[in-house]
Amino acid sequence: MKCLVTGAAGFIGSHLCDALLKAGHHVAGYDDLSAGKMENLAEAQKSKRFGFVRGNILQLKRLEEACDGVDVIYHFAADPFVKQSAENPVHSFEQNVVGTFNVLEAARRKEVKQFIFASTSTVYGDAEVIPTPEDAALQPISNYGASKVCGEQYVSSYAHTYGIKGTVLRYANIFGERSDHGVMRDFYFKLKAKPDELEILGNGKQNKSYLHISDCISATLLAASKQKSMFEPFNVGSREKHTVNEIAKTISKHMKLKPEFKYTGGRRGWVGDVALMLLSTKKIERLGWKAEVKFEEGVKRYLNWLSNKS
Ligand SMILES: NC(=O)c1ccc[n+]([C@@H]2O[C@H](COP(=O)([O-])OP(=O)(O)OC[C@H]3O[C@@H](n4cnc5c(N)ncnc54)[C@H](O)[C@@H]3O)[C@@H](O)[C@H]2O)c1
Repeated sequence: MKCLVTGAAGFIGSHLCDALLKAGHHVAGYDDLSAGKMENLAEAQKSKRFGFVRGNILQLKRLEEACDGVDVIYHFAADPFVKQSAENPVHSFEQNVVGTFNVLEAARRKEVKQFIFASTSTVYGDAEVIPTPEDAALQPISNYGASKVCGEQYVSSYAHTYGIKGTVLRYANIFGERSDHGVMRDFYFKLKAKPDELEILGNGKQNKSYLHISDCISATLLAASKQKSMFEPFNVGSREKHTVNEIAKTISKHMKLKPEFKYTGGRRGWVGDVALMLLSTKKIERLGWKAEVKFEEGVKRYLNWLSNKS
């Protein structure tokens, strides 16, 4: 099978390329390298079944060319930042709504059969039901969340109008090797710069689900291969949640430090931050998926990777 991965040089996209190649597929990576790095694709580039196109998802013609002979698209290119989507709503709209529309349109024109879309737990906003099931109301509290809801809706409409099977993955916080954003990386570098003090955004009680990248990839491949209906959303996350305070303590412990925690205050770390998030993962578990990497083990792997890199 030939797969196109947008956002291929990014954190999740590059791991996905590696996994698809390992499964024997041909993979075309598509990325404008605005945030992604070619070094993330070092492993993928060793394979003769891998090709890379430097392109922007806002360039429809280039996307169409890249979709030649493609069976499945994994659309992962995005502006993935909640905080920045408040500061620059136009950028997140263009990248995540117009960009996603373009990728779908290229898929339609080139008769691609399946479209897998990287969505997010933030589509639920401050969910009323915890753990939150897939049929909960979509009420985002950030522009990023709203842009992903829009993307999902187009994936659904293209599935039903043009017969492009749509698979939506609503990810919790994904962390691990190659990630260059998120709370764990933030704490690690803050502590390296100032080992006796750690600034924590918000009150530290934000409580959320974190999933290691290897479990995110196994869930993605399983959902993509086992989905029966034309359109289906799947939550992808861990069964337990962790507070920001717990993460601060875990990282300090691994770094053998005892910093004083200083809080910026407030229930949310930033505008649009969802303070409580746990997804119900029963639906994807029914397909046979199970998270394998325990939180502490995942953090250890990530910190080892960060320290080897820095
Ligand atoms: N990491 C998480 O915790 C998380 C959680 C929920 C959803 N997601 C979603 O998963 C996807 C991947 O996230 P990530 O953490 O790997 O982010 P990332 O920033 O590491 O990867 C995104 C990639 O997309 C590329 N890109 C951005 N704009 C582009 C454009 N206009 N044209 C072509 N390429 C472009 C970037 O260069 C980068 O390589 C995103 O859609 C994100 O919204 C991530």
